[in-house]
Amino acid sequence: AAALEQEAEDAVVGQGVVESNWAGFSGRGFVNYDNVIGSSVEYTINAESGGEHDLTFRYANGTTADRPVSVTVDGVNAQAVSFPGTGAWTTWQTRTVRAVLHAGANRIKATSTTVNGGPNADKVSAVLVGPPDDEAP
Ligand code: GCU
Repeated sequence: AAALEQEAEDAVVGQGVVESNWAGFSGRGFVNYDNVIGSSVEYTINAESGGEHDLTFRYANGTTADRPVSVTVDGVNAQAVSFPGTGAWTTWQTRTVRAVLHAGANRIKATSTTVNGGPNADKVSAVLVGPPDDEAP
């Protein structure tokens, strides 16, 4: 299946700013999470079918400390996702986690859980893994 994705700068930002001062991002920039617990980026992914998806977050973390977040789908099924240092703010890497999405719009919210806030967030993409849910259209 084709990757569905959304740029962080097109998502709903809760405590953070869209910036473009570190090269290597896709789209028009990235979100610089505020350095507080609870800063967030809420993406919307319009899944073609329900089922397990790989959610891949592209990010940079120019520090040596992890910038973990809690990822929820439509507010539930929280899972911790680690964003370790990438060596430089211009070095972008990905972390992938698996989550069940439903057909239609899914709110994928990544909320920082430490006082350092989240990493610089570029985008999220989702790819269906395994069979789609057998849902009536
Ligand atoms: C620096 C860097 C930002 C980054 C911030 C942070 O200020 O320029 O892009 O978001 O550190 O530590 O979160």
